[in-house]
Amino acid sequence: MPDKNRFTDNESVTPVRISVLNLDHVIDRLPCGISIQDRDFRIRYVNQYFKNDFGEVTGKLCFRALKNSDNICRSCPVHATFQDKREHHSEQTFHFAGAKSCQMMIRTSPILDDSGEVASVIAMATQVPHVKEGSKELLTLGRSIALVSHGIKNILEGLQGGSYVIDEALKDKDIEMVKKGWNLVNKNIFDITDVVQNILYSSKDRPLRYNFASPGQLVKDAMVLFREKAAGFNIKLRDTINPTVPKVHLDAASVCRVLNNLIWNALEACLADKQKKDHYVDVKLDFYDEDHFMFEITDNGIGMDQATQSNIFEEFFSTKGGGGTGLGLSVVDKVVNKHGGKIEVRSTPKKGTQFKIIFKIK
Ligand SMILES: Nc1ncnc2c1ncn2[C@@H]1O[C@H](COP(=O)(O)OP(=O)(O)OP(=O)(O)O)[C@@H](O)[C@H]1O
Ligand SMILES: [Mg+2]
Repeated sequence: MPDKNRFTDNESVTPVRISVLNLDHVIDRLPCGISIQDRDFRIRYVNQYFKNDFGEVTGKLCFRALKNSDNICRSCPVHATFQDKREHHSEQTFHFAGAKSCQMMIRTSPILDDSGEVASVIAMATQVPHVKEGSKELLTLGRSIALVSHGIKNILEGLQGGSYVIDEALKDKDIEMVKKGWNLVNKNIFDITDVVQNILYSSKDRPLRYNFASPGQLVKDAMVLFREKAAGFNIKLRDTINPTVPKVHLDAASVCRVLNNLIWNALEACLADKQKKDHYVDVKLDFYDEDHFMFEITDNGIGMDQATQSNIFEEFFSTKGGGGTGLGLSVVDKVVNKHGGKIEVRSTPKKGTQFKIIFKIK
């Protein structure tokens, strides 16, 4: 017979007492990630749930360990709590240990010292429920279709312009004009290929296809692709390849995409700079340290301010209006993360930008 009293209130039961020792155990088992951070965004404590998702990150800077970024996040709730001593919440995309990324809801609360100042901030992270994720994906999809269609429309107009020039030139038997029209068509074929490839890399969670490739050859291939373009823009495109960087296991097609996106951005940054007379894009392959090699792309283009820098890896973030879809660097970020690599960015407004893409030698 079921016990009828089983689901009735009983205030006389002995409450479960949790000793300080057991408290740690309980916090470890909470079904959400708990972390405590100091004013410098250094992680001072994490529970086991947090460690399972992000690995051992105690002592590391939050934005670096969880976002692979050199800057604090745009709407960082920890920062907001330090500022006004109140609770905050925000949704953020994080990179799990093992390079998977995930949307999480973060809630923060202040821990005050004896003088009432915020000594540290406790943050609770839970994965955004899948249903919500689904509707967010739909929203993103709608936004992305609008943005990408705009970019493609511009390219199609360019293609139409080129074909019109060729038609007219053929009527006049003007071979020089045919060449001009053909260059226009070629440029737009390049642009549309680039956009479509980025869409493909963004839309599917494409598994890596590892091959044994020469990083030096990847740089040489990129040079062939961009040499004429750069010359056409009057930008010096130079490469420096350390020939002793060995062949490594990587997904060569994906890494090509990384180099293409970075070099293309660097050329566009030079084109956008109307202050300097001479522009260059330097592409370097070298060792980063004993165990790593790096691709380094440096330009003396327009550079970026802090606000731009903290958003560049977000999907669809672009400062180029209809001239960019904002997919390039999000694809770079995805590919590098999947390889377990690292990105370093240094940029100064009006001076230029340097991207370092660091991979393990294996
Ligand atoms: N080398 C650079 N110099 C200055 N700004 C840069 C550089 N690289 C990227 N950016 C900034 O980062 C933004 C995002 O770059 P991303 O490549 O993701 O998109 P996009 O170039 O705008 O569009 P597309 O999807 O066509 O590449 C750019 O709009 C630009 O503001
Ligand atoms: Mg780009």
